[in-house]
Amino acid sequence: NIKDNVFLQSNASNVTSTPKQPFFIGVAGGTASGKTSVCNKINTNFRDQHVVLINQDSFYYSLKDNMVQKVNEYNFDHPDAFDTELMLSSMEKLKLGQAVTIPNYDFNRHKRTEPGCQVNPADIIVFEGILVLHDSRVRDLLNMKIFVDEDSDVRLTRRIQRLAIERGRNIQNVLDQYSRFVKLSFEEFVLPTKKYADIIIPGGGDNEVAIDLIVQNIRMKLGQHDLCKIYPNIFVMLSTFQI
Ligand code: ADP
Ligand code: C5P
Repeated sequence: NIKDNVFLQSNASNVTSTPKQPFFIGVAGGTASGKTSVCNKINTNFRDQHVVLINQDSFYYSLKDNMVQKVNEYNFDHPDAFDTELMLSSMEKLKLGQAVTIPNYDFNRHKRTEPGCQVNPADIIVFEGILVLHDSRVRDLLNMKIFVDEDSDVRLTRRIQRLAIERGRNIQNVLDQYSRFVKLSFEEFVLPTKKYADIIIPGGGDNEVAIDLIVQNIRMKLGQHDLCKIYPNIFVMLSTFQI
């Protein structure tokens, strides 16, 4: 589970380098909608490929010391809470086949921690986070865009379960943060990105049909991806014939 790993997981320990351009997938959706579960399901279907999962949470700005005391005043669900420029430059480097260092984020201290984690280019790189489809430059780099859809009440229940029960946060603070920031930012910034998705998944990781279709589509695209590099002219001809 990448939540345990905070931000990153790679499934192919024996793969050393991948010269191909990675296939980028973005998985967005509200808090506790099941994004991580979907990513894990996709990951387990690609044992034969080198898959890396990167969480947008890794790109949260560190909270300044004077704000840590006033953490309840801070909106972690606003696009400005993320260092999108760093995420974008990391994506661009990975696309070019270069390794990058992704920050490590401590949810309890609300800060980045050293060291970061080195990520090598992979066959498939999945970017997961509430606002992964928000920035048009990030969207343009994604080969596949997914939005995980779940009812707000289900998400809130899961969020309480995760933050208050599993991570020991004060339940009143969890509810205050939700009504003050999370709900409003979801409506203002997250939900409007659903229209950019190629695929909308209701039911998250439990939606086996959606996962199967996604995996099949990625496999097909990866095949084309590789062939395109070997026979670029054939693909130009094919698309001309389709017109
Ligand atoms: P996200 O990455 O969108 O925040 P997660 O996949 O981490 O969502 O799921 C949030 C929480 O809900 C986790 O504690 C997870 O175990 C739980 N969860 C996810 N999907 C389901 C499901 N279909 N049924 C019950 N609990 C689920
Ligand atoms: O996994 P999920 O999509 O829920 O992660 C994003 C959520 O993490 C945001 O809704 C944000 O409110 C929460 N968050 C937090 N404390 C932080 C950073 C993020 O509660 N320090």
